[in-house]
Amino acid sequence: MAQETIAILGGTGDQGLGLALRFARAGRPVAIGSRKVERAIEAAEQVRKQVPGAQVTGFDNAEAVAAAPIVILSVPFEHTAGTLKAVRERLREGQIVISMGVPLATAIGDGAVRMLGIWQGSCAELVAALVPKGVQVVSAFQNVSAHRLQHLDEPVECDVVVSGAKDPRERVMALCGLVPGLRAVDGGPLGNARIVESLTALLIGLNVRYEVSAGVGIRFTGLPQS
Ligand SMILES: NC(=O)c1ccc[n+]([C@@H]2O[C@H](COP(=O)([O-])OP(=O)(O)OC[C@H]3O[C@@H](n4cnc5c(N)ncnc54)[C@H](OP(=O)(O)O)[C@@H]3O)[C@@H](O)[C@H]2O)c1
Repeated sequence: MAQETIAILGGTGDQGLGLALRFARAGRPVAIGSRKVERAIEAAEQVRKQVPGAQVTGFDNAEAVAAAPIVILSVPFEHTAGTLKAVRERLREGQIVISMGVPLATAIGDGAVRMLGIWQGSCAELVAALVPKGVQVVSAFQNVSAHRLQHLDEPVECDVVVSGAKDPRERVMALCGLVPGLRAVDGGPLGNARIVESLTALLIGLNVRYEVSAGVGIRFTGLPQS
C-alpha cells in the first residue's frame, strides 16, 4: 500500500521543519505548507539536502491540505484560527488534523512560562471547534523540542502524549514510531490536551532553570512495554 502523505502547515518553521526532516528520513512523503509557496519549496529543498531522496514537496497551505490525509498544524497558537480558516474549504471528511499548538502567554506579549485561558479548554479543542464536521482532531507533539527533531543524527528521547478519538489517536500514535527515540503514550480523549499543552510551559521554565538549550523532554515510567 502507498505510504500516506503527511502535510505540515507552517512547515517552514522550526518545529514543522524538524518533523518534516524526521518523517522524510523515515521514508514518508511530506507536503510542506506555507502561506507563501516559495518558502515551502525552499524548506522542501532544505529537507532534501539533509535527507537525499526524500519525497518532500512545497505547497501553499491550502494545497498541502488537499495533498494529505493527515495534516499537522505547525503555526504559533495565535495564528491557529486564521490558518484554519484559510484552508477550511479544503479540509474533508475522514482527514486527521494534528494540533500541536500551545496557548502560551507570549501570544499576548507575556512570558512563555505562563498559559492563556482558552474558552474551549485547549488549543486542540479550539481546533476541533473550527474544523468541518467529519474531520478528526488529535493532539500530539507539543512537548517535543524542535532542536532535537532537527538533529537527525541523534534520537529525540521523548514521550509524546496523543489525545483524541480512538481510531485517529491510534493512527497518530503510529506516526511517533517513525522517529527514533519518540514513544507514543495513549493520552485518552481530546480534553486531556489542556493538561499536555500546559506541560510545555513547565518544560520551557525547566529549559531556562537547568540551562538546557536543546530542550528538556518528558518520559513516563512504569508503563508496560508495547
Ligand atoms: N519550536 C519548538 O521547539 C516547539 C516545540 C513543541 C511545539 N511547538 C509548537 O509548534 C508550532 C510551531 O512552532 P514553531 O516554533 O515552528 O513556530 P514558528 O517557527 O514561529 O512559526 C511556524 C510557521 O508559522 C507560520 N506563521 C508565522 N506567522 C504567521 C501568521 N501571522 N499567520 C499564519 N502563519 C504564520 C510561518 O510559516 P509561513 O510564513 O511559511 O506561512 C512559520 O514558519 C507552535 O504551535 C508551537 O507551539 C514548537
